Amino acid sequence: MSERPYHVVLGITGGIAAYKAPEILRQLQQRGAEVRAVLTRAATRFIGRVTLEALSRHPVVVEMFEPNVNVAVRHVEMARWADLLLVAPATAHTLARFAHGLADDFLTTLYLSARCPVLVAPAMDAEMWENAATQENLARLRERGVAVIPPERGYLASGIEGEGRLADPEQIVARALVILAARPYARDLEGEHILITAGPTCEDLDPIRYLTNRSTGKMGYALAHAALARGAQVTLISGPTTLAPPPDAQVILVRRAEEMYRAVLAHMEAATVIIKAAAVADYRPKAFSPTKLKKTGADLTLALERTPDILAEVGRRKGSRLLVGFAAETEAHLEHGRQKLLQKNLDLIFINDAASAETGFAADENAGFLLDREGDVVELPRMSKYELAMRLLDRVRERLARRRGDAHRERAEERG
Ligand SMILES: Cc1cc2nc3c(=O)[nH]c(=O)nc-3n(C[C@H](O)[C@H](O)[C@H](O)COP(=O)(O)O)c2cc1C
Repeated sequence: MSERPYHVVLGITGGIAAYKAPEILRQLQQRGAEVRAVLTRAATRFIGRVTLEALSRHPVVVEMFEPNVNVAVRHVEMARWADLLLVAPATAHTLARFAHGLADDFLTTLYLSARCPVLVAPAMDAEMWENAATQENLARLRERGVAVIPPERGYLASGIEGEGRLADPEQIVARALVILAARPYARDLEGEHILITAGPTCEDLDPIRYLTNRSTGKMGYALAHAALARGAQVTLISGPTTLAPPPDAQVILVRRAEEMYRAVLAHMEAATVIIKAAAVADYRPKAFSPTKLKKTGADLTLALERTPDILAEVGRRKGSRLLVGFAAETEAHLEHGRQKLLQKNLDLIFINDAASAETGFAADENAGFLLDREGDVVELPRMSKYELAMRLLDRVRERLARRRGDAHRERAEERG
């Protein structure tokens, strides 16, 4: 991502789900976007401007005729600035105004001026959603090229269950990024099939207890989102996490190291790149007790056995595939990382400091070193996991290009 950050105008309208807008804004920022918020008058009844101004670090616009601003050009300027207009949540009223070209506040006027892609995430009561007027307005907007991320079924603020709940913020952000990345220069991983592992594994002791680690899957999922945004086909093999699966990825959910091992071997054939970001248990209980282990007066010693070494096995079988590993170290980071790279036959390894609270496990940010086979070391300072995923994919793309260039030259030389 050497280009400037994506520019997103986040339009927020007057529905209960407006309380989720700051989360959407924050997630967009974490993925490297610059965001400006625009509220409708009704939205200000649901969410405070101050929150959005603090998060976006920019004034929030509501009215067309606000004092002390050059009102004549602002909506036009902002429309030009935006790479994407995302309206989340979008009320029935604002969808109707968009559909009919009304321009009675800043957001609707901006919409009419905007030439960038528009994505709307409707949220409303089930009856409002099902109403023919709403559906006709949406159909009209779709026909004009507006992308719609439909609401989900679930419990609505009105107390009934039905369709109308705002789509999951993570899904909205993922979709926004796919649209943003559709800008031609960004689809530089098109044609690649990237297999990514993510999350921890859980090794059961009995029906209640298990051994696991502190991985949350955030790094692997960020990689999946980033690879999708750059046009790659993605297979994500994930241990248990609380994260929403990235739309458009083939997602395979597993629990134990053994299951992850089998899933990786079964799916690696089609991959051109394999990124092992999962924190796989090295040991599992030797025996699984089908009934709950009972407490006794004595100490308990657990017998553990090795789990299969997925990375080493993939390293043996990788062929021409590019293999990227992760190492979470607490000491002698570079030395341990280099050893792992060579032992496991990796092309690249990302080494991070597992002992740091700001980065590493569970954090939204990460930092560390990227090492390649030739011994080149790149230090990646603290940044969001999504940005870091982008930087890592930059290196993957470079190595793929170099490798294919070399193969091409060799073939040309053989031909004489
Ligand atoms: C408590 C409350 C919750 C509301 N929730 C929604 C909603 O989720 N979706 C919706 O389309 N309208 C909802 N409305 C109605 C809108 O606020 C109303 O149609 C308003 O005119 C929308 O204006 P706007 O589109 O300019 O934001 C709600 C109204 C109230 C009082």
